[in-house]
Amino acid sequence: MNATRNVIIDCDPGIDDSLALLLALKSPALNVIGITIVCGNVPTHIGAENALKILDLADRLDIPVYLGANRPLEVSYTSAQDTHGDDGLGNSQIPEVTAVRPIQDAVSFIVDTLTEAPTTSILALGPLTNIATVLQRDLQLFEQVEQFTLMGGSYRSHGNCSPVAEYNFWCDPDAAKVVFDLMPVPIQMVGLDVTRKIVLTPSLLTYIKDINPELGSFVEKITKFYFDFHWQYERVIGCVINDPLAAAAMIDPAILAGFESYTTVATTGVARGQSIVDDHDFWHTPANSEIMTDVDVPAFWRLFLTTVFGATEPDLTQVLNQLVTPCEK
Ligand code: RIB
Ligand code: CA
Repeated sequence: MNATRNVIIDCDPGIDDSLALLLALKSPALNVIGITIVCGNVPTHIGAENALKILDLADRLDIPVYLGANRPLEVSYTSAQDTHGDDGLGNSQIPEVTAVRPIQDAVSFIVDTLTEAPTTSILALGPLTNIATVLQRDLQLFEQVEQFTLMGGSYRSHGNCSPVAEYNFWCDPDAAKVVFDLMPVPIQMVGLDVTRKIVLTPSLLTYIKDINPELGSFVEKITKFYFDFHWQYERVIGCVINDPLAAAAMIDPAILAGFESYTTVATTGVARGQSIVDDHDFWHTPANSEIMTDVDVPAFWRLFLTTVFGATEPDLTQVLNQLVTPCEK
């Protein structure tokens, strides 16, 4: 097994962020040294409370949660509470953690950590405001980062908050552009092209509840709202869980495949937030990113179901043989 990787997770929990946190916290391949919160799915203070709820569920309240940006760099803030619920966890009313409080502040924590431990990896699951702020302060801090993986953007798949834009890049397009302009290490972009193939279906949820009633009940509580949203707006039975795939990419790189390219992000107008992948090298600019285009769906579910819920054979293979990959529109 590869050595354990130290990682900071920057996120906006958020239903799928929460599932990604559970995967990262339970994977022996990752050592989560801190969670930084950014405004996105929900305002920062709500995201921080939700991160603490996940840490409590995983019995890891030893991991610190840091409050980050509460508004994008330039544009006004637009949450995704229509998708994730007012509380960011599907209006599940899960009790708040009181024993531990979030602390200030995310940017200082990232700066201090990369100063003391420059090879620390970064997993970004929300709008990129915190990451961009650190880059603008001192981009050299990222020069030795072992891996920078983000959930965001889209190469050939349609957007999810405009015809062309994915939410994390749309919510703070200026931060996304700063990251693609300044990040000194390759950006692994886990976008909608691959995450849309990861659908938590009612059948998978039934299996999860059967093998792990406690966590299964939690997942059911926080995803009901998400299921309803997906059926109402995308006619998907189940819900796309984007962020866990980005976490899985950091645990098992073989799950995803793609290509290197120069990529930038549109910041204004109708294309706001669009990731523009120069796959035909029009601009003759060195590649700054690896665009993920293919995913081994059964391999993701095998990793997710075994790591988070303790799935075992022979049931697991029988379940994976019944996976139905949703047809792309
Ligand atoms: O577009 C999907 C992304 O935006 C996910 O990370 C989701 O949690 C939201 O942050
Ligand atoms: Ca997210």
